[in-house]
Amino acid sequence: MEKRIIYSEKTTTDLPSGFSFPHTAVACSDIERSMDEMRGSGRNTVLSVVILTAEEFARMASIHEKRPVDSMSFRTIVTGAGTDGSLADSPLLANVTHITSSRLSERELSFHLKRAFSAMEREKRLADERNNYKNTLLDMKHDQEDLINIGRALSIEKDPDHLFRLILMLSKKITGADAGSIYIVEELKEGGKQLRFKYSHTFSKELPYEEFVMPLNKNSIAGYVAVTGTILNIPDVYRLSKSDPVAFNSSFDREHNYRSKSMLVVPMRNHLDEIIGVIQLINSKEDDTGTGKVTGNEAFEIVLSTPGDFEGKVVPFASRYESLMEAVAGQAAIAIENNRMMKQIQEQFEEFVKASVTAIESRDIATSGHSFRVAELCKQMALAVNKEEDGVFKDMRFSDMAIKELEYAALLHDFGKVYIDLAIFQKSKKLFPKEFENLMLRFDYLYRCVELRFFMEENDLLRRAREGAAVSDEFDKIRAERESRLGRIREMKETLSALNEPSVTGKDPEDVIREILEELESSGCLYPDGKPMPVITESEKINLEIRRGSLNPSERKEIESHVVHTYNFVSRIPWPPEYRNIPEIALKHHEKPDGTGYPDGIAGNDRIPIQARMMAIADVYDALAATDRPYKKSVPLEKTLGILKEDAGNNKLDAELVDLFIRHRIYEKVDKDSFKTGVG
Ligand SMILES: [Fe+2]
Ligand SMILES: [Fe+2]
Repeated sequence: MEKRIIYSEKTTTDLPSGFSFPHTAVACSDIERSMDEMRGSGRNTVLSVVILTAEEFARMASIHEKRPVDSMSFRTIVTGAGTDGSLADSPLLANVTHITSSRLSERELSFHLKRAFSAMEREKRLADERNNYKNTLLDMKHDQEDLINIGRALSIEKDPDHLFRLILMLSKKITGADAGSIYIVEELKEGGKQLRFKYSHTFSKELPYEEFVMPLNKNSIAGYVAVTGTILNIPDVYRLSKSDPVAFNSSFDREHNYRSKSMLVVPMRNHLDEIIGVIQLINSKEDDTGTGKVTGNEAFEIVLSTPGDFEGKVVPFASRYESLMEAVAGQAAIAIENNRMMKQIQEQFEEFVKASVTAIESRDIATSGHSFRVAELCKQMALAVNKEEDGVFKDMRFSDMAIKELEYAALLHDFGKVYIDLAIFQKSKKLFPKEFENLMLRFDYLYRCVELRFFMEENDLLRRAREGAAVSDEFDKIRAERESRLGRIREMKETLSALNEPSVTGKDPEDVIREILEELESSGCLYPDGKPMPVITESEKINLEIRRGSLNPSERKEIESHVVHTYNFVSRIPWPPEYRNIPEIALKHHEKPDGTGYPDGIAGNDRIPIQARMMAIADVYDALAATDRPYKKSVPLEKTLGILKEDAGNNKLDAELVDLFIRHRIYEKVDKDSFKTGVG
C-alpha cells in the first residue's frame, strides 16, 4: 500500500529523516487540490497523513463536509498555532491522530506518523475482511437462491429432454460457464455399463452435437469422474501434465475452432449414492474471486469469440462452485431418476392397459383393434385441432398431457363390454343361430304332423274304398288340401327366415308374425306326450318383431350399459390429476348432440366434452370402415364419410368436428387394418 505525507509548511514541522515515501508540501490554498488527490487515491488504496495548522484543518473540514474524502484513507496531525480546543466539534475529529500547539520533535512526529499509518493499515485490512465476508455471504445467499430455484425448476419438468437442457442451462448460468455437456450412465442388457453423451450446449457458438456412447472407463475426463466420483476442477485443460490422472482430447476444439480452458466436472449421484451421470462445465467467465456476482448469471452472457476473449475472459472455476455444483448435480440426479421412474411407471401402465384391451378385444375378432384405432383417430383429431388457425378451434390447443388423457380414455372406452355376454355383440340376426334352428325344427315337426294327419285321413279313405265306398273325389280333395297346407308351412319357414334378417323389410314384422300366429292357431300340433306345441315361442316372437337391426330392446339396453361399466371400471383407477377427465370422456362417448344418445341422453355440444364428441366420430367411423366383420361388410370410404356428414347434419355428431375429420383427412392417418389383435 502506498503511503503519502501531505504537510503544510505553516506547521513548522520538519519531517523525520527516516521517512522516505513521497510527501507533498501544502499551502492553505492547496488543501482543496490535496483533497482531490486523496479522493482519487482512496480508490488506489494510498494512505495519507495530513499535517496541518488548526486553521487549515478547519478549512479541510468544511471542504470535507461538501465533498467527503474516504475517511479510512487519511489521518491528520494538527500542530502549530491556533489549536484552541474548538476542533472538538469538527466532523473530522475521528481522523485527527494528534493535536498539539507546540512544535513536534522529529521523534514525536515519527511516532505519530507510524501510529497513524499503522491504524489506517489495520482499519483497511479489517474493512477488506469485512467486504470479503460480505461478498461471501452475498455469494452464498445467491447460491442458496439458485439452488432453491433449480430444485423447484427441476422438480416440475416432466419431459426428459427438456430436463437435460434445463440442468445444463442452470448449471452454466450459476457458474458463468460458456459451454457444458451432460453424460448419462446406462446399464447394458448384456451386463456392464456405458456412458452416453446426452446433451451439450455452447453459449458463444452454435455447435452441433449428436448423442453417442463411450465405454465407462477412466480414459476420458467425463468417464474418470463417472468411475471415480471425484470432482475435477481444472484451471486449464491444455496444461494437464502426464502425471495428472486425466488427459484432454482436443479434437472437438480443433474441429469447431473453440478453445476449452477451465473445466469443472461433477458426478451426479442418486439417492443410493450411485453415479448416474456427469455434468461437465467448460470455461468459467466469472471473476475467480467469486465477488463479481451482483445479481447472478451475468457472466454467462459474455460471448467468447476471439483468441483474446478465451485468454482474457476465461478464468478457472471458483472453488466454491465445486460444492455448489455438487448440490446441483444431486438435485439433477434426483430429478432424472424421478423422471425415469415416472416414465417407467407410465410405460408399465400403458402396456398393462394395452394388454388388457387386447385381451378383451381378442374375444371377438370382429372388434379386434377397434379401441387402438379409435385412440389413434382421436389423437390425430386433437393434433389437427392444434393446427387450426381459423374457425372455431383456433384458440383451442391440446397439451401433450391432454392428448395422452384422450388416448387413455379412447383405449378404455369400450372396456365395459367385458361385462356383457359376447353372444349379444355377435348377434347378427334377430334370433341366435340355435334359436332359429329350433324354430325351423318345430316347423319341420309341424310339417310332419300335418303330413301324418293327412296320411291318416287318406288311409281311412283307402280302407273305405276297399269296403266299396266311392271316395275318389274326397281323395282328390284331401290331397289338394294336404299340398296346400304343407306348401303354406314351407312358405312360413321362408317368411320367418327372411324376417330373421336384421335388414328392414317392407311389411311390419309385427303384422307378419300376427298373421302367421293366427294361421297356426288351428294347427293342433301336439308333442308326443299330448301337450300342445307352441310353434313360435314368446321370446322368438319378440325377437322376430324387431323392426331394425338384430337386437331386441333388452339386448340393446344391455349393450348400452357398457359405457356405465366402463365408467365404473375406469373411475376406480387412481388417475393423476392431469388424467382426471378420463372416466367422464369414456362415459359420454355414445352421447349425441341431439340428446338421443346414451346413457343420459345429454343434449347440446357444450354439455358433452369435446374429447367424447371426437371419440363418437372415431367410433362411428371405425365401426363402419373397419375390416369386414363376419356379419357385416366394411362400408366404402365415400359412403362412410357420407354417413358421418349425414349424422352431423342430423345433429347426431358434432358437425365442426366431422368437418375437421374430413378436412384433415384423419382417416388416412390410421391404417384400418392396423392394431389387429386376436386370432386369425
Ligand atoms: Fe362404445
Ligand atoms: Fe367403440
